[in-house]
Amino acid sequence: MHPDELAALRSPAGAAALTAAAQVLAAPGGDDPLTAATALRTAGVPAPLATAALTQAALRARAVGKFGPAAARMFFTRAGLEQATRAVVADRRAARLRAAGVRHLADLGCGVGADTLAAARAGIRVYAVEADPATAAIAAANAEATGLADLVTVVCADATDVDLTGVDAAFCDPARRSGTGRRTFDPDSYSPSWDFVRSLVARVPRTVLKVAPGIDHALIPPGAEAEWVSVDRDVVEAAFWCGPLAGPPRRATLLRSGRPATGLVGDGGEPVAVGPVRRYLYDPDGAVVRAHLVAAFAATVSGTLGDESIAYVYADTPTDTPYGRCLEITDVLPFSLKRLRAVLRERGVTRLEILKRGSPLDPAQLRRDLRLRTAAGAGVAASLVLTRVAGAPTALLGHPVSAPPGPVGAPAR
Ligand SMILES: C[S@@+](CC[C@H](N)C(=O)[O-])C[C@H]1O[C@@H](n2cnc3c(N)ncnc32)[C@H](O)[C@@H]1O
Repeated sequence: MHPDELAALRSPAGAAALTAAAQVLAAPGGDDPLTAATALRTAGVPAPLATAALTQAALRARAVGKFGPAAARMFFTRAGLEQATRAVVADRRAARLRAAGVRHLADLGCGVGADTLAAARAGIRVYAVEADPATAAIAAANAEATGLADLVTVVCADATDVDLTGVDAAFCDPARRSGTGRRTFDPDSYSPSWDFVRSLVARVPRTVLKVAPGIDHALIPPGAEAEWVSVDRDVVEAAFWCGPLAGPPRRATLLRSGRPATGLVGDGGEPVAVGPVRRYLYDPDGAVVRAHLVAAFAATVSGTLGDESIAYVYADTPTDTPYGRCLEITDVLPFSLKRLRAVLRERGVTRLEILKRGSPLDPAQLRRDLRLRTAAGAGVAASLVLTRVAGAPTALLGHPVSAPPGPVGAPAR
């Protein structure tokens, strides 16, 4: 978005156009671009402003999942929204920084400002640096729109050039996109560069670096705590907490709608106990797996692994745990398509979820090959786990502990 476009949207006429655009998009047929544009033009909104308002209103609607009701007051670009930290994650980080005594934070590469705003909400003054002029203008507009401008100073500059004297902590969430806008998993393609990002640790002792969840553990700065965060079982980020901010070497933080946050910590090198398949299988949360805390998790449910390289945990009893889904295993079968098809038919299974770890099979293809019977309103639901046990390809059949086998649609126990 060009800064002039942002200025137009922030004018009284722009605010009115944004309100009208949100109403048009929510009305029947509003998802058709031509209908929406015509409706705004008919309401007297000039064409360029109508286009900008419709784009912005659509971005705000998409942003609700990350920012809640505040999205309706904020400004976004498509890339800025995609890269922005969810408020629930940013607020947690900000609260931890504040609790650690941080009062003045540099946010280097602040984007549209999700982390900056969260820090300001926590009462931290923020020096927000953004290289892209339009994005920097949006970050400043968002600070004003959310009533946090007094705590936020946005500067449009290259983060590698700014003076960090006076801040008592630094946060950096580098852009992880290639020149074509596609996501990159290679830290050497980060912007600011990975060399700059990791050098911050020596310049500002209290530093937090946000990185992609798939980051190589070898890149964790010495002495840092590496945290993986999941939201509703979806791993959304990793962050390295450096210097005095570091806690235990590895942490998995699980945020779930409507429940308190939970965290599992360890050193990531806990010894792994391997044993046979047992009656209950746990599929650990992705944050636990990424943090290399599967062995630490197994200890919390008195579990063992079936194969030391595969993150399924087996135990004799079901334990109510936030760290993984629990399935009751009813059948352990050496993998054979014919045998599996026969067992599923015999059980009347018509609805099957397929989980896999350590299996080369394509679940979608397997589902087709299994040719499950379809039965409207009847039949049995089951879970199929494709894995290896002691090196052997194995199929495990079972059901979630909270939803035992039974007619499809039967209430969970
Ligand atoms: C991943 S986004 C930050 C998102 C932000 N944490 C949020 O939640 O809204 C990274 C940002 O860094 C900016 N950036 C990239 N290289 C930079 C540099 N050398 N100096 C300052 N900003 C930079 C990009 O323009 C982009 O907006």
